[in-house]
Amino acid sequence: MSNSVNINNKIDNFNLSIVMPGDKSISIRWVLLSSQAIGISKAENLLESEDVINSIKCMRALGVEIKKVKNKYITQGVGLNGFSSSRKVTLDAGNSGTLARLICGLVARHNKTMKLVGDISLSKRDFSRVIKPLKKFGVLFKSNNNKLPLIIRGNEYLRPITYNETKGSAQVKTALMLASLNTPGTTIVKSIPSRDHTELMFKNCLKIPINISKKKHHVIKVKGLNAYKGFDYKIPGDISSASFFIVLTLLAKKSKLIIKNINVNKSRIGVIEILKKMNGKVNLINKKKYKGEEIADILIRSTNNLKSINCPKHLNTKAIDEFLVIFLACAKARGVSRFKGIQELRQKESDRLKIASNFLRMIGVRIEEKFDSLKIYGNPKLELHNKYIVKKYLKDHRVFMMSCIAALTLGGNFLINDKNSIKTSFPNFISLLKKLGAKIS
Ligand code: S3P
Repeated sequence: MSNSVNINNKIDNFNLSIVMPGDKSISIRWVLLSSQAIGISKAENLLESEDVINSIKCMRALGVEIKKVKNKYITQGVGLNGFSSSRKVTLDAGNSGTLARLICGLVARHNKTMKLVGDISLSKRDFSRVIKPLKKFGVLFKSNNNKLPLIIRGNEYLRPITYNETKGSAQVKTALMLASLNTPGTTIVKSIPSRDHTELMFKNCLKIPINISKKKHHVIKVKGLNAYKGFDYKIPGDISSASFFIVLTLLAKKSKLIIKNINVNKSRIGVIEILKKMNGKVNLINKKKYKGEEIADILIRSTNNLKSINCPKHLNTKAIDEFLVIFLACAKARGVSRFKGIQELRQKESDRLKIASNFLRMIGVRIEEKFDSLKIYGNPKLELHNKYIVKKYLKDHRVFMMSCIAALTLGGNFLINDKNSIKTSFPNFISLLKKLGAKIS
């Protein structure tokens, strides 16, 4: 089957209600945390994408039984320090930075040699951000310049650390929190606020001693070696996946969309805050709480009145995975949009700052790109008529999906490569677009 799609039709006039697949961050955390619970955990609506399937495969390689029965995933947890693995086991994280970084912390006390590998995109990413603090716990690492493959050896005699996390990375914070579970004494992580699903799971599902103080920085204290029981979870829809449909609806004509049952945790809704500041008609309805997380339906209506934004820096971590589609909305907005302190975008599945700039320039948008900032000169009249080719960008699912949304809202004749990349996070992306009326071949 071809790995590219052709789109040469805009989409408008839809009025529908849709659901998104399960949240990726929460799905991966459930798989890893349920694996070292005592006894059985069950999950509904677990995201069935490559990143999550690879998480399950890694846990199986560490001796954990995880199976699917009807529509539920069931983990038979092995308890703290209960992993068992063959000599020099290989853990393959595929494309997932989250799985790879988190697993480094999860296996901190597994006193066996493990090899961690990933695909071409993940093998280019930097692991010093987790290697450095985990070495302080006593975990041993061998690598070529902090890149995969990593050789990891856990340590039975871990010591707690105090660490200052300065990038606003939830992956780093979570890796250290996972290591703390198997470490005697109190681990302290001071971090720039980032998504807090792990903190909420520790509190509401694991029910272990954890103390969090929230000022400019968050200070998280976890008391280790507290065994916890299995826990069930109904995974809500993923706001990162929803963001493509939010921007699609805003930029389409005469359309309305309701996206049901989405996780709208405050640390994740930067995309909604930013689009609202730009005059986007996006509203949260039917709000409820579940295990400390906030859930809501998102109601979106199209508009031709988007204005630019001078994006406040505190929204950067809250919108970290959504910037590609946010930049697209800025291209069609009135005025000049400015983003600062966004260098972390260069550390994702690809250098998303460079790729976004190249993409927007290709479709005729004026851009000023610096190492850590972007200026986008918006044009509400932006309409495309030429032929455009989006090549394969190091297996980055979000580049592919943003390109599809551009084609469906701005026109032109697009050939977009690397369709298979959506399998990592959003396998039914194309079929959902077709449900809204998109013609994609
Ligand atoms: C994630 C954290 C973010 C995000 C990633 C998922 C997580 O990465 O980009 O897609 O689930 O913890 P960083 O921690 O590197 O910002």
